[in-house]
Amino acid sequence: MNRFLVLNGPNLDWLGTREPEVYGTETLAGLTALLDEVAGELGVELDHFQSNHEGELVERIHAAARSGCRGALVNAGGYTHTSVAIRDALLATALPFVEVHLSNVARREPFRHTSLLADLAVGVVHGFGPIGYELGLRGLLERM
Ligand code: DQA
Repeated sequence: MNRFLVLNGPNLDWLGTREPEVYGTETLAGLTALLDEVAGELGVELDHFQSNHEGELVERIHAAARSGCRGALVNAGGYTHTSVAIRDALLATALPFVEVHLSNVARREPFRHTSLLADLAVGVVHGFGPIGYELGLRGLLERM
């Protein structure tokens, strides 16, 4: 079965209580369950990984590519706006991915308007909360 990585970066383990007015009240576990249900319908398997550490995110991208993952949903959190290393990992592995954000980053602080990943992505979904991950997965599959 085709496998896809769902990569969540720093502070996303705090979903549910973290700035609910920005990120909503769904927890990461709830988001994972929602996505697994959609994946079941679509006939794909998801590997979920969250870390607050840049290097661990880089290594998980490497491992996904080496193990034959077909693509990824990437919410790199704050690293979206700063991480050359995560960009380079996505470049090195050529893993097709969709960049996802729960919040509408374009309506927030100017430093969130820059993504070091977006120009490598198949597409970007932001501003739809947890459903954005589902939209990203459907979009990624559509393109493959
Ligand atoms: C985020 C947006 C980022 O700017 C922020 O640093 C996050 C979450 C989002 O999902 O909306 O941690 O990626």
